[in-house]
Amino acid sequence: MDNTIFRLQDVKFSYLGRYPALCGIDMEIVKGQRVAVMGANGSGKSTLLQMLDGLLFPDTGTIEAFGRTLNEKAFTDTEFNRYFRSKVGLVFQSSDVQLFCPTVKEELLFGPLQFGFAKTEIRSAFDTIVGLLDIEGLLDRMPHQLSVGEKRKVAIASVLMILPDIILLDEPTAGLDPRTSRELANFLARYHDENKTIITATHDLHIIEEIADIIYVIDQNRKIIRRGSPHELLEDTAFLEENNLIHSHLHRHEGMPHVHKHDHLSHYHHHS
Ligand SMILES: Nc1ncnc2c1ncn2[C@@H]1O[C@H](COP(=O)(O)OP(=O)(O)OP(=O)(O)O)[C@@H](O)[C@H]1O
Ligand SMILES: [Mg+2]
Repeated sequence: MDNTIFRLQDVKFSYLGRYPALCGIDMEIVKGQRVAVMGANGSGKSTLLQMLDGLLFPDTGTIEAFGRTLNEKAFTDTEFNRYFRSKVGLVFQSSDVQLFCPTVKEELLFGPLQFGFAKTEIRSAFDTIVGLLDIEGLLDRMPHQLSVGEKRKVAIASVLMILPDIILLDEPTAGLDPRTSRELANFLARYHDENKTIITATHDLHIIEEIADIIYVIDQNRKIIRRGSPHELLEDTAFLEENNLIHSHLHRHEGMPHVHKHDHLSHYHHHS
């Protein structure tokens, strides 16, 4: 059997036909792969994830999931729609668009109840995920009244609750404190197996080695300019800087401000 989960061929997409977001994307993601998508603000990462989630469709080019072309018509097939939605879960960049239930607890139970999961399965997923994200104390709260980081934890938890085989995460650690980011990365590393595909858009160089085997970098022309291992990419500081994935800090040193090239991972300074 073909192991391909997603196949994109020369995918182009503009919002309202005027604002280009993806300008010729080719990608093949196979079952069990862990992929990170990196690129500067506005490079098209969120657009790409929404396309993988069947929320947007290419203007030209094709995207296939599980061997079927994704377009409006595919999702009018209720059987395919249900299959796709039970397999693929997207954690949006903005938690506000994701959370709609009156309490956090209901938010977590909504997906699994809708898919008719068994009670014991729901209970065990609930306990694990609530513990993982440390949101026990939030269960009776209203999602909209939570802090940004708390909302993000709840949004991640609600997607994990359907135990998706394909998880799409849009900047999952943005707004999370260091310990929670670390725990999330650890959890994703444990959750992953040969049947689970994890695709993450992120700027967070601290987590990419744990959450990805392959990194795609999109440049400002909204095309993929590089595909490689995290290790290989992290070594190439010149490339990372050129593509706005690391930055130079202005430091004050012996009273004189000057610029350090500042690698986020090692905090290892090169003087320029
Ligand atoms: N709803 C929209 N209407 C019009 N243009 C949009 C819309 N959403 C995104 N765009 C444009 O599409 C391009 C890609 O945006 P996208 O949100 O996919 O980028 P991104 O890589 O996720 O950025 P960020 O790192 O800021 O999240 C941007 O130029 C953006 O202005
Ligand atoms: Mg984005």
